[in-house]
Amino acid sequence: MYINEAKDNVGKFVEIKGWVYNMRTSGKIVFVLVRDGTGIMQCVVSKNDVTDETFEKAKRLTQESSIIVRGTVREEKRAPFGYELDLKELEIVQLTQDYPITPKEHGIGFLMEHRHLWLRSKRQWAILRIRHRIVKSLRDFFDSRGFTLIDAPILTPAACEGTTTLFETDYFGEKAYLSQSGQLYMEAAAMAFGKVYCFGPAFRAEKSKTRRHLMEFWMLEPEVAYLTFEENLKLQEDMLSYVVQEVLKNCKTELEIIERDTKPLEKVVPPFPRLHYRDAIELLNKKGFNVKFGDDFGGDEETALSNEFDKPVFIHHFPKEIKAFYMQPDPDDPETVLAADLLAPEGYGEIIGGSQRIHDYDLLLQRMQENNLPIENYKWYLDLRKYGTVPHSGFGIGLERTLAWIAKLTHVRETIPFPRMLEKIYP
Ligand code: 4AD
Ligand code: MG
Repeated sequence: MYINEAKDNVGKFVEIKGWVYNMRTSGKIVFVLVRDGTGIMQCVVSKNDVTDETFEKAKRLTQESSIIVRGTVREEKRAPFGYELDLKELEIVQLTQDYPITPKEHGIGFLMEHRHLWLRSKRQWAILRIRHRIVKSLRDFFDSRGFTLIDAPILTPAACEGTTTLFETDYFGEKAYLSQSGQLYMEAAAMAFGKVYCFGPAFRAEKSKTRRHLMEFWMLEPEVAYLTFEENLKLQEDMLSYVVQEVLKNCKTELEIIERDTKPLEKVVPPFPRLHYRDAIELLNKKGFNVKFGDDFGGDEETALSNEFDKPVFIHHFPKEIKAFYMQPDPDDPETVLAADLLAPEGYGEIIGGSQRIHDYDLLLQRMQENNLPIENYKWYLDLRKYGTVPHSGFGIGLERTLAWIAKLTHVRETIPFPRMLEKIYP
């Protein structure tokens, strides 16, 4: 059986294949914590119940040795996951020597160098299980609403989110870039399928060494034909609330392991508050920041703003100069665009960026020229405005930042199995 099937196997003689998580000996009993990827279970080896050979083998076990155990499952309220195994038989697959990550405290640099092994620890396991649940619930949300999954390319001829953060590669003598976002391709797909999303890695060569930045991160990007700016916010609200409630429902053990206080998460239900960029500027100045219209918000400003609310908050109507070329200016306030960032509560800052897109050919061309973009690489994108153009909107939710908030981590480096950060690509 797998450890997470223990409750259906009480009283039964079962086999578990796994690894030694930890162990201790107390006279005539050896306690072995076994993990198998689905959970951790304490196995009790009593000298009186096993052969001498088995007892001696149990005493020799070491952390992370691979083992196969057989015995009877017993309910035990005091055990970490509620069940114990009375061990009868023990097979050692490999006796591990000197596992580098011991139960004592290790520095973060050491742990990052051993990320390939660190993944086995209970806390990392819990975090990445929550990551999986977020992905599953995101996909369930869109799949159940009639969206079609359309995969965007990774190798691209042009920028989506500014030319300063492109990873350049050589594409048979031509320049190509790792995708910063699948959005432009989703806009094409939305005109073919109506409601679409992509989910894949995005790359940003950002020389930022903050707790929010990765060079490679995962983003889910929906795009919907005829969707208005207002409807786009509603979609985000419904989506994020669904995801958080699904995590609360399905990841109780994981949230307990990481000791996450779930009260703030329970509040994540629609509607979310909205704050106009101009009001955000005013609020920040009241709080002692020195910002004016046209300034972009950094991590500190975002943290200050999100701390004002106990739910995620939309900051909307940014000045067009600080936002991407494709964003639709507000007809009533053309210095600003119909865009919103969603800031997560508890000081986490931006987890979603979205907008209504320019659907007028001439305006889009003008914005591209103002941004000095090489028009010939975007001819296909302009085509979308020539053949049956319609207003449309979409957004991108960053998986790692969302998980960092839901799991309340101090840094995104623990949210992805193998993080790529400034000056760090090993292991
Ligand atoms: O705000 P961004 O740059 O928006 C876009 O890429 C749009 N094309 C999305 C769209 O409208 N389809 O990125 C969206 C989200 C951010 O809110 C953040 O959560 C995440 O992607 N993100 C990063 N996460 C980790 N490390 C980085 N360097 C990130 N850059 C963006
Ligand atoms: Mg953004």
